[in-house]
Amino acid sequence: MLTGMRPKGNRLLVTGPVRVHTALVRSFVVALVFLASMPIAAVAQTPLISKRANRIADSVLKLMTLDEKLGQLTQTPSANDQTGPTVDAGGLQQIRAGKLGAFLNLMGADVVRKFQRVAVEESRLHIPLLLGYDVIHGMRTIFPVPLAMAATFDSAAAARAAHIAALEATAMGLHWTFAPMVDIARDARWGRIVEGAGEDPYLGSVMAAAQVRGFQGDNLASPTSILATVKHFAAYGGAEGGRDYNIVPISDRQLFEVYLPPFEAAARAGAGTFMASFNEISGTPSHANDWLLTDVLRKRWSFAGFVVSDWTGVLELMPHGIAADSATAARRALHAGVDMEMSSMLYRNTLAAEVKAGRFPLALVDSAVHRVLRVKAALGLFDDPYRGASADRERKEILSADKRAAAREIARESIVLLTNNVVNGAPALPLSRELRSLAVIGTLADDSASTLGSWSGQGRKEDAISVLTGLRRALPNTRITFARGVPLDSIRTSGIAEAVQAAGAADAVLLVLGERGDMSGEASSRASIELPGAQLELAQAVVRAVRAGGSSKPVIAVLMNGRPLAIPWLADSTSAVAVSWFLGVEHGNALADILIGAESPSGKLPVTFPRATGQVPIYYAHKNTGRPADANNHYTSKYLDLPWTPLFPFGHGLSYTTFAYGNVKVSREKLRGSDSLTVSVDVTNSGKRAGTEVAQLYLRDDAATVTRPVRELRGFQRVALQPGETRTVRFSLKPQDLAMYDREMRRVVEPGTFTVWLGGSSAATLESHFTVTGDVVVLAKAPPVFR
Ligand code: BGC
Repeated sequence: MLTGMRPKGNRLLVTGPVRVHTALVRSFVVALVFLASMPIAAVAQTPLISKRANRIADSVLKLMTLDEKLGQLTQTPSANDQTGPTVDAGGLQQIRAGKLGAFLNLMGADVVRKFQRVAVEESRLHIPLLLGYDVIHGMRTIFPVPLAMAATFDSAAAARAAHIAALEATAMGLHWTFAPMVDIARDARWGRIVEGAGEDPYLGSVMAAAQVRGFQGDNLASPTSILATVKHFAAYGGAEGGRDYNIVPISDRQLFEVYLPPFEAAARAGAGTFMASFNEISGTPSHANDWLLTDVLRKRWSFAGFVVSDWTGVLELMPHGIAADSATAARRALHAGVDMEMSSMLYRNTLAAEVKAGRFPLALVDSAVHRVLRVKAALGLFDDPYRGASADRERKEILSADKRAAAREIARESIVLLTNNVVNGAPALPLSRELRSLAVIGTLADDSASTLGSWSGQGRKEDAISVLTGLRRALPNTRITFARGVPLDSIRTSGIAEAVQAAGAADAVLLVLGERGDMSGEASSRASIELPGAQLELAQAVVRAVRAGGSSKPVIAVLMNGRPLAIPWLADSTSAVAVSWFLGVEHGNALADILIGAESPSGKLPVTFPRATGQVPIYYAHKNTGRPADANNHYTSKYLDLPWTPLFPFGHGLSYTTFAYGNVKVSREKLRGSDSLTVSVDVTNSGKRAGTEVAQLYLRDDAATVTRPVRELRGFQRVALQPGETRTVRFSLKPQDLAMYDREMRRVVEPGTFTVWLGGSSAATLESHFTVTGDVVVLAKAPPVFR
């Protein structure tokens, strides 16, 4: 039946690409019609588990030698773009020999077509390559870094940015992105906090699912859809001491309550691949964790895609100390459920001998290969291995005006206004468009490369608008002077005098402070989250000089940052502080839009801002403890030398207008654990300008059989309001929202009272209550026990 799939030797070498593939696909199709005896379109519903994808995988697998199978489980980087410790790159010869199923960091329509042509025309089985890349927050049109994106609390924006990234990436021949990164991070020292949605599992879950939908679209086979990778599975963000790649000392309960929810949300949203994480949990590195990769991911969450290792993650089982040699590392990883190996080539180099010697079951190789082939089929690669990549599409898609406009819009939403004091009778921000002169101080103001942030491989600094450029465009009638101030990674202070002078001569001062784009991201942890270099000294010198002259002119601080920064002095001593993170190519324009008040800020912190590094980890959903902090009681949970409260809480963010909350109602004061309820609240724009508020709902199960966080986010909505306008915002709370893991780790709703808070941050005080009556309702049985 499958004769059409037999290799045809040299004959195919002389046939044109399209014809070859048409012939190949035709043979699959014939087989499928025989097997399924029903129209193909009718069985191809959910792409990853479609019968058609399965049957293509079945039919190809049957033809493969063991070496070809191991080739399909091997992914290598291209020679000129390595995003980890240097490894051997794959090349055309390996593709021809069927030793390579996937690449990373190989892109560009022309290049990709060349490599793909060799795979589908010159390899024995003509199996198309799968081409992946870290398209993390945009391809060429770089959007705000993921932490900034989370500050929008706007899942539609996250999906839109992901979709736009997919348009550009697919035009450049890519099929697969290593995003979204959904690691919850509560330690701001960890550099990779910038890559995720921050500290909260609920916000993280919403953003994770939205990005998966944005990348993959409704149909993975569409030439504009890109396969998503949910990473890093799991709990990588819990790195001890915030040091990258470190162990993660957490309990099963923390794993399920805090770290896994965004992964589960992304799996349920249909993500096609997962990436194992570098860290270990309880002595087992994720790359060897069969419980995590198989029992939880595949069995409990019904994940149908495949798992890829992280860069040399399989090889790293040796330094982890759980494999004495590379063959053991390969066996352990594949056995655990790592289907494809990225960068190290231990599967390809060792497993054939292991299988032949009976030390490793062929069936496990086969099932991994089947999963990889099935995803390739779901992407439509067997139908069109080029998926429409072309230089024409590149020209049309890349950095098109509509994409830049979307980037600017989303960047505006990401900016968080932390403080805005009244100066000379008016709030310091927005700046008046009539401002005669403005001193812009700080080397970052001129640093367009930094606006792109980490993982912006195809981003170009010449495409990016710096803060200074954005301001010059927005304020054409203002005399803008620029003083670089101090460098970020030395304590040289020689530029301070010039900055002080510029500040003295201007009507308003803008300090642009924070981190360079490469000071967060992978392998960029910092032991201190204070302002790097002599920036604090610079800010202090400027503010003191201005105030010493008796001037009350506004001195505004804008942060560029990939993590929360401890800035207590700035918060107390400047007129206003805004967080601009790294906003991508439109950074300067979007920031200027906000600074001059073309739009009100609406971003909210997706992560708590501590007062000092010593408070880390600090997060709003902490436990109460038996001795919650009490200023009047010495023997309570606090520090001698710092307040226990953060500088700015999760969810905080001001607008140029004000919002008032009132009239909170719960649709039922008593309900059963299987019931849902609605909580409503009136949100009023009580100020004088239009603005958008992120209304937030927090919940606590007041007394349960296990301790609960003091409150947890369970809903948020962006509400655009004109001055004086009131809107009733409704939140629906379902059993899943009221549920928790009980002592047996079952997911249950327990009877008892609940408190709900509504407001504009996690410090909201407007509250209401309801009671769950009746029996415990079990929503899910306990997860498999970690062995
Ligand atoms: C990172 C991953 C990334 C991979 C490929 C690794 O070092 O941890 O997040 O996807 O490299 O570039």
